[in-house]
Amino acid sequence: MQQDSNTGVNIAAPEGQARGGFERAFRVIAVTSGKGGVGKTNVVVNLAIQLAREGRRVLVFDADLGLSNCDIMMGVVARKDLRHLIYEGATFDECVVEGPEGVHLLSGGSGVAELAQLGDAERLRLLAAIEGASPRYDTILIDTGAGIGSNVLFFAGAAHEVVIVLAPEPTALADAYSTIKVLAKRSGIQRVLVCVNRVSSVTAAREAFGRLHALTSRFLNVVVELGGWIPVDVHVEAAVAAQVPVSVLHPMSPSAQRFKLLGDAISRRRPELASSGGFHMFWRSVLEGQGGSPPITAKSREVFA
Ligand SMILES: Nc1ncnc2c1ncn2[C@@H]1O[C@H](COP(=O)(O)OP(=O)(O)OP(=O)(O)O)[C@@H](O)[C@H]1O
Ligand SMILES: [Mg+2]
Repeated sequence: MQQDSNTGVNIAAPEGQARGGFERAFRVIAVTSGKGGVGKTNVVVNLAIQLAREGRRVLVFDADLGLSNCDIMMGVVARKDLRHLIYEGATFDECVVEGPEGVHLLSGGSGVAELAQLGDAERLRLLAAIEGASPRYDTILIDTGAGIGSNVLFFAGAAHEVVIVLAPEPTALADAYSTIKVLAKRSGIQRVLVCVNRVSSVTAAREAFGRLHALTSRFLNVVVELGGWIPVDVHVEAAVAAQVPVSVLHPMSPSAQRFKLLGDAISRRRPELASSGGFHMFWRSVLEGQGGSPPITAKSREVFA
């Protein structure tokens, strides 16, 4: 662990080198949902912890802009956030804060209406700012917020992988289906990993996933896979109240063990699809936009087909 000379923030490993001395593929993972309140932020925060424990250098980017709360769930205080980065000329280093297990957080700011509807110029300013700090990370986890707002479509469309958090209720199923449909049409998403949250058993998780899969396979040209499931667990509520991720506060709890398996599943997923060029090359392709086409590489399209 070394310290950034500007901020005093601990940096997990020297630039371009993963902890343990082995290189890992760079990946940007967006976590989204149709319905709000299904557990996205818990998934992002605990997945970040699990991936950091595996030696990954993780940045959580709270892109639930204007309504962000990853800082609360991680128990950190972000003195500055995206509002300062985008509108007040703050640097990335001034806005990033270190949380549990060395996970870094860029907070999305709360109570700022403009952030909910960023224009293209602001989005590009934001991506350019993150790009400058990117060699420190090999994994960026984006909490997009719920629904199909333009920020959600933009950040999900810019990620290598999209995780949809699904709750077992019928309304959540309908909203998840609609979100995948819009992500496919508007952001070019062709593959989605589903995490079923707040279920009582693997059987319930498979049933909820099966209902979603039946719809998507019938009506959409999107590959939808079950990436993991998290049980309904009182430890999660206790952890949220304590402002400590459940994987840290109760590492042996049923939910923390499942978050670990979700992290393992995501780590094992086809690393060849992730960019080898790091954040710079990845966002460069987003920024250049290729005539407005979705920022999924031709290579990944072929593999996804
Ligand atoms: N597996 C779980 N077991 C028990 N309670 C859970 C679980 N997952 C989430 N919760 C509860 O649901 C609440 C909402 O979770 P969370 O904030 O992660 O959802 P969200 O999808 O990010 O919400 P929003 O759309 O408002 O951003 C949490 O405060 C927590 O109490
Ligand atoms: Mg949330």
